[in-house]
Amino acid sequence: MQRPVRHAHTIIEPFRIKSVEPIRMTTRDEREEYIRAAGYNVFRLRARDVLIDLLTDSGTGAMSAEQWAGVMKGDESYAGSDSYYRFKAAVKDIFGFRNVIPTHQGRAAERILFSTMCDSGDIVPNNTHFDTTRANIEFTGATALDLPCPEAAEVSTPGPFKGNIDVDELDHLLSSDARHVPLAMITITNNSGGGQPVSMRNIREASEVCRRHGVPFYIDACRFAENAYFIQQREAGYADTPLIDIAREIFSYADGCTMSAKKDGMANSGGFLATDDDELAAQERNLLILTEGFPTYGGLAGRDLEAVAIGLYEALRPDYQEYRIASTAYLGNHIADGGVPIVQPPGGHAVYIDAAAMCPHIPPLEFPGISITVELYREAGIRAVEIGSVMFGSRDEDGNEVPGPHELVRLAIPRRVYTQSHIDFTVEAILNVNDRRESMGGYRITDEPPFLRHFTARFEPLG
Ligand code: F0G
Repeated sequence: MQRPVRHAHTIIEPFRIKSVEPIRMTTRDEREEYIRAAGYNVFRLRARDVLIDLLTDSGTGAMSAEQWAGVMKGDESYAGSDSYYRFKAAVKDIFGFRNVIPTHQGRAAERILFSTMCDSGDIVPNNTHFDTTRANIEFTGATALDLPCPEAAEVSTPGPFKGNIDVDELDHLLSSDARHVPLAMITITNNSGGGQPVSMRNIREASEVCRRHGVPFYIDACRFAENAYFIQQREAGYADTPLIDIAREIFSYADGCTMSAKKDGMANSGGFLATDDDELAAQERNLLILTEGFPTYGGLAGRDLEAVAIGLYEALRPDYQEYRIASTAYLGNHIADGGVPIVQPPGGHAVYIDAAAMCPHIPPLEFPGISITVELYREAGIRAVEIGSVMFGSRDEDGNEVPGPHELVRLAIPRRVYTQSHIDFTVEAILNVNDRRESMGGYRITDEPPFLRHFTARFEPLG
């Protein structure tokens, strides 16, 4: 693809700043007190005590002037609002599905989908389930099965599409037991697998396997535009295809999708469930009315629907994606050059530190990822998130802890929020923490809830 300003090597933010929000510096002593009071869990910190917040890219982005203008046009009619029809038209245009069911965020779409389709004893495969996806499947009594491609396990080895699903394993599962698989999914990009993209070929092949076995194929579409950009950059045959056409092809292989519009919907709230199956959609709307709202707003204000309808197209702008992916790679490459082990290559929305490799002296069940998130906060008020044995660990029949597949710390980049100097500051802080990694110790859980424990668990430093 040709860059419009061809003589420049620097990729710039393709926007200027119209509205600013102060961030607050704290002292080291204050941070020590805040993190102790938070039970060493950064989810329990007050946001005002965080300087650079890389906890998530979900709902934390800056909206454009166009989106704010859309907010003023929001039609707040309870039923049949114009905003719904604009939202539905945008989703239909990009994703192609006839039935568009708005939800307040992605997990509401997941809950409605899985409680409509899954029964106890079922299995739902995915490249890697996100935590809310897994929890919503398991809540129905079904099993959430991860089938990542073999390259995904090679954390430090770069590859173009390490988010792929293992198509042979999928075929194997469906050949032996398709009756118990009510649907198969693929998550683009693969968030829990390091923010890595999935290739068009992999999506097509997974879809073919599902069709051959008569199993509906769904896409968790949260970061569909970033995934489309990676396909354009990395997969043969797509270099000149506009992102919107890549997106349309992706979804042409699917029977439906779930979406959190808090990611590539470029909005602070919102999501949807979409499908071409009219009968299923009717059942899903009945559930929607029960807990989310009437089918033309589904838990969202008309103004939210407008912001998403506009944001979906903004996420597909080539200058935006070029900046977005380059700025994530900038953070990843700078810390990797400074000696910090990361999942290679850097993902679309986030960089993942390999906590097990950075702190090999802390065993998985002493939570090296928690240790690093606590140190980053102590060092510079930076908030990252553990994606390791706290988030994905489990317990065996005897109640013993079983570690998760990886020990990672995710640095997620909110969309259009931080400038390069914020990122340079973050790089410096991470390198400082890395320098003193050997002095860092592990943690133990003192208090945890039965589901999604990472949000509210409390910890205590060991030793
Ligand atoms: N699927 C994926 C791949 C996600 O990353 C998320 C959210 C969801 C589903 C659920 O969407 O939050 O709108 O209910 N991920 C956020 C994150 C929370 O930090 O990665 P939601």
